[in-house]
Amino acid sequence: MDIGTRLFRTALLGLAGNRAARAFSERYGMKLGASRFVAGETMDDALQQAKKLNDAGIAVTLDFLGESISSLDEAKTSELGYLDLLQAIDREAIKGNVSLKPTQFGLALDPAYCQESIRSVVREASRLGIFVRLDMEDSPWTDATIRMVRTLHQEGLTNVGTVIQAYLYRSGQDVKELTREKMNLRLVKGAYKEPASIAFPSKKEVDNNMRRLIRARLDSKVYTAIATHDESMIRWVKSYTKSHRIPRSAFEFQMLYGIRTPLQESLAREGYTVRSYVPFGQSWYPYFVRRLAERPANVGFIAKSLFKR
Ligand code: FDA
Repeated sequence: MDIGTRLFRTALLGLAGNRAARAFSERYGMKLGASRFVAGETMDDALQQAKKLNDAGIAVTLDFLGESISSLDEAKTSELGYLDLLQAIDREAIKGNVSLKPTQFGLALDPAYCQESIRSVVREASRLGIFVRLDMEDSPWTDATIRMVRTLHQEGLTNVGTVIQAYLYRSGQDVKELTREKMNLRLVKGAYKEPASIAFPSKKEVDNNMRRLIRARLDSKVYTAIATHDESMIRWVKSYTKSHRIPRSAFEFQMLYGIRTPLQESLAREGYTVRSYVPFGQSWYPYFVRRLAERPANVGFIAKSLFKR
C-alpha cells in the first residue's frame, strides 16, 4: 500500500468513529451511497434482500447495525431487535443466521449486562436452531469478546462463535486454543485501525498470516467461515481443500453484501457454501466508512453515483 493510500485509509477510519459526522450522515439518509453496501434501514428491507440471495443459492448472516452505543437503553433496543430478527428468520424460513457486535450490546458500558443480553439472544437462537456470530471489533474488545463466546460455549450453547482477525499478532495462538475447543470461527483480515505494536503493518504479512490461519483451521476440520473477497486466496482455498481432501462441509466462504456479487454467485453454483453478510438499520455510518477505507476506489465510485442522481 503506498503512503498516500495509507494516509487516506487512516483518515477514513478516523471518520468512522466521529460522532458528529455520523449523526449528520445518518440523518442525511442512505443518499451518501451507503445503499451499495447496506440492505436498507428496516428489517423488511433486509429480509427482502436475504430472500433474493437465498434464491441465488447464497445463505446470509444478518446484521442489525448499531455499535458503540452510549446507553443501556440502546443496548436493550439491540437485544429486542435481534430477538425480533430471529423470529423473522424462522417465520420466513430464511436460510441464514445473525452477526452482532458486542459494543452494540453495551460491552463498553457494562460487560456483565452485555454478556447477559447476548446470552438471551444466543439462547433464543439455539431454541430456533440458528447460529449467532459475535463480530470482532477493535482490539480493546478482543479479550472480552473471546471470553464471552467461550463462556457461552462452555454453558452448552454451541450455536455461537466469533471472528479472528489475521492482522493481529495474537491470532495464531487464539486460533490454536479455540480450535482445540471446537469453536466455529470466521477468519478475516481485519477492518480497524490498529498500531504496529499489535498488528502486522503490511498487507503482505496480513495475507500470509491469513493463509496460515486458514490452513490450521482447514486441517483441523472444525467448521470455519473464510471471509474474504480476495480471489487469489479463494482460488488457493479451493485447490488446498481439493488436494488435502477436506470436505466442503467443513467450511464456507463469506463475503459482504454488495461486494463481488458475481463471485458469490459463481461459487454457490460450483456447490460451495457461500454466505453473504447483510447489514441493515439506521446506524449504518461506521460500517459504511469501513467499507470505503478497505478500498479507497469506492470513494470515487460513490461520488460518481451521487452526481448521477
Ligand atoms: P482485500 O482487502 O485484500 O481485498 C481483496 C479484493 O476484494 C480487493 O482487491 C477488492 O477488489 C475487493 N474488496 C475488498 N474490500 C472491498 C470493499 N470494501 N469494496 C469493494 N471491493 C472490495 N473485519 C473485522 O475486523 N471484524 C469482523 O467481524 C469482520 N467481519 C467480516 C465478515 C465478512 C463476511 C467479511 C467478508 C469481512 C468481514 N470483515 C470483518 C472485514 C475484513 O476484515 C476485511 O476488512 C474485508 O473483508 C476486506 O478484506 P478482503 O479479505 O476482502 O481482502
